[in-house]
Amino acid sequence: MTGALDGGVGDDTATDAGPPAPDPLLGHVVGGRYRVQRELGQGGMGTVYEVLHLGLGKTFALKKLSPEWAHDAEALARFRREAEVVARLRHPHAVQITDWETLDDGTPAFVMEHLAGQDLAARLEQGPLPWPELAQIADQTMSALEAAHRAGIVHRDLKPGNVFIEDADAGGGGPFVKLLDFGVSTVRGEKALTSRPVDRLIGTPAYMAPEQANGDAEGVTPATDVWAMGAMLFEMATGELPFPETGVMAVLYRICHGRPEQLRALRADAPTAFVEVVERALSREPGRRIVEMSVLRREVAGALATVASPSPSPSPSPSPSPSPSASTNPSTSPSPSPSPSPSPSPSPSPSPSTRAIAGGRRRWLWLGLAGLLALTASLVIWRWRATARSPVKASSPPASLSPAPSPSLAPGLAASVSPSPSPAAATVSPSPSPSASPRRSPRPRIPVDKGKPPRKPPPPLTP
Ligand SMILES: Nc1ncnc2c1ncn2[C@@H]1O[C@H](COP(=O)(O)OP(=O)(O)O)[C@@H](O)[C@H]1O
Ligand SMILES: [Mg+2]
Repeated sequence: MTGALDGGVGDDTATDAGPPAPDPLLGHVVGGRYRVQRELGQGGMGTVYEVLHLGLGKTFALKKLSPEWAHDAEALARFRREAEVVARLRHPHAVQITDWETLDDGTPAFVMEHLAGQDLAARLEQGPLPWPELAQIADQTMSALEAAHRAGIVHRDLKPGNVFIEDADAGGGGPFVKLLDFGVSTVRGEKALTSRPVDRLIGTPAYMAPEQANGDAEGVTPATDVWAMGAMLFEMATGELPFPETGVMAVLYRICHGRPEQLRALRADAPTAFVEVVERALSREPGRRIVEMSVLRREVAGALATVASPSPSPSPSPSPSPSPSASTNPSTSPSPSPSPSPSPSPSPSPSPSTRAIAGGRRRWLWLGLAGLLALTASLVIWRWRATARSPVKASSPPASLSPAPSPSLAPGLAASVSPSPSPAAATVSPSPSPSASPRRSPRPRIPVDKGKPPRKPPPPLTP
């Protein structure tokens, strides 16, 4: 079809598809610049391929509408609208769209950033998620949904297959979510694209809120995404669906009339607050149900706060005394306390004023014994003060602090010296190791959308 005819570059890759009916698009060039390299995934609406931009030498993902929908006006409109919605929603955790193409046979397609990793459905095949990973994936997904809701967009097809988890490298060490597939989303203020009753039931049964399962298109609101998010939280925690019936009708019936499975029975170490918040997201009781994504996000973060961080770091003192010590610690820098500076050059020679005083007193010496005594007294005082200052000087090692004069003399000095003798040893010694390591070890409990959490292996799951 299409680009195939554009140039037939890369016919070699076409044979990679193997015996079962090779996709004719593989190996061909779309729009004169995107060579189709391999299939990345398929969903209800289309097929996604990895394509190589021949000019840039960079890979992208191209999503084309499935042939069975290609002549359906509503499906076509929805597909185009998906591209527009995604283009409008610029968020770090929503996939970015970069181009629009039409294949030679008229099939529409759009180009997105190429994501490396796996979708959450594939991830869940390995089992339930450890809490820190769950917390990160959930928070990032909800941050994208929050932004979508603010923009008046309801995703309406939230499920693990539409939550892509980029490889750790992309996330700077942790999972990095990209929300996909706005193909059946609704946009506030826009006319519904679905007019046929048969199409009013849109979504994936296991993740359909009661109002969606009822086919109540008008009842679909951001709360519908909240419900689906609740189902995903349940599944991420347990590896099971909250409404695990096998038949579509049985699932829908239970969603509308029954209750979900007991989360705690499937994940014994689930925090009570988490169990409750998931229950409220999945609740049918209007007063109990969480209806806003921002509320769900905040409550999930709070509920997982104790389990979402990696094992409580060996030394729980990442910042026990750093700030105070910065201002108090005299040994960390040569400009420790302001107190030593008041008399920076005390030692060898007495200050001019002292000398003047001494000279005046010497004259008294000629006048009598009283003058001699006075001079002696002033000399003694001068020497004693010079000694008292020296330990405070930054250049002095801690040892010189100990012989410091008795605290009774100069209040200003005493204040700056006294903290040092013992605490100084404590605040200086931490610098070599303890204080450095705890700064990095704790990773943010729940990363923000910038989401560059430090790399750390998730703790093992407690069965
Ligand atoms: N940008 C992308 N990069 C890599 N893989 C992708 C990308 N977009 C989609 N996929 C893969 O293709 C699958 C189907 O994509 P999706 O947009 O959900 O299509 P559909 O609307 O048909 O469900 C996804 O589950 C995912 O595994
Ligand atoms: Mg999909």
